[in-house]
Amino acid sequence: MSPLFDPQSPLFDHLVFLGALVRNPRSVGAIVPSSERVAADMVTSVQPASRVVELGPGTGVITKAVLARLGPSGALLAVETNHVFVERLQRSWPKADVVCASAEALPDLTASRGWEGVDHIVSGLPFATLPRPVTLHILDAIRDVLKVGGTFTTFQYAHAYRLPPAVRFRRELSDRLGSPPRSHLVLWNVPPAHILTWVRR
Ligand SMILES: C[S@@+](CC[C@H](N)C(=O)[O-])C[C@H]1O[C@@H](n2cnc3c(N)ncnc32)[C@H](O)[C@@H]1O
Repeated sequence: MSPLFDPQSPLFDHLVFLGALVRNPRSVGAIVPSSERVAADMVTSVQPASRVVELGPGTGVITKAVLARLGPSGALLAVETNHVFVERLQRSWPKADVVCASAEALPDLTASRGWEGVDHIVSGLPFATLPRPVTLHILDAIRDVLKVGGTFTTFQYAHAYRLPPAVRFRRELSDRLGSPPRSHLVLWNVPPAHILTWVRR
């Protein structure tokens, strides 16, 4: 079968992603899914027995990397607003608990599962393009559910890394989590991206 029509192929994922971008540019906020290199670097903090939340999984490149690190007692809750992505993720990754909701609902979503806290949050959310009140609500939700010693990992595109909105985002999250992030640049991505990890103090 041509990769254009094979729902399992990365090219098909790119087409689904492009379709979502055209319909909802601010919410998708990227032209292609993250590279496997970014995905691998996003999940290095994840331990086999942890409770993990993924925000904005999209076509699932980071979902796949999280699940590869989780053991039988680990759990992944993935929160995504786009129902097309949600249905694809539920079909492809039955081990993940994929819900169609906004990341703003994170405290309710974790409480309704009996989770007292989250060990790791990984996020592909496009904070650079989300409405400001939504971003602030999500930052508060992250602070409220992340355990002390837990990690929050996200990425910021290199071309915008030093612009005021990106700097403000890092400061606002550092204020909430009590420490600055560690970061490194990944060139193997379109566009290149900084991976940032905060540890909740
Ligand atoms: C830049 S894409 C990242 C997709 C994937 N994680 C990756 O790295 O390729 C952003 C994703 O966040 C989702 N999203 C946007 N706003 C959201 C929200 N408030 N809550 C949950 N997901 C959201 C979009 O639908 C999209 O799938």
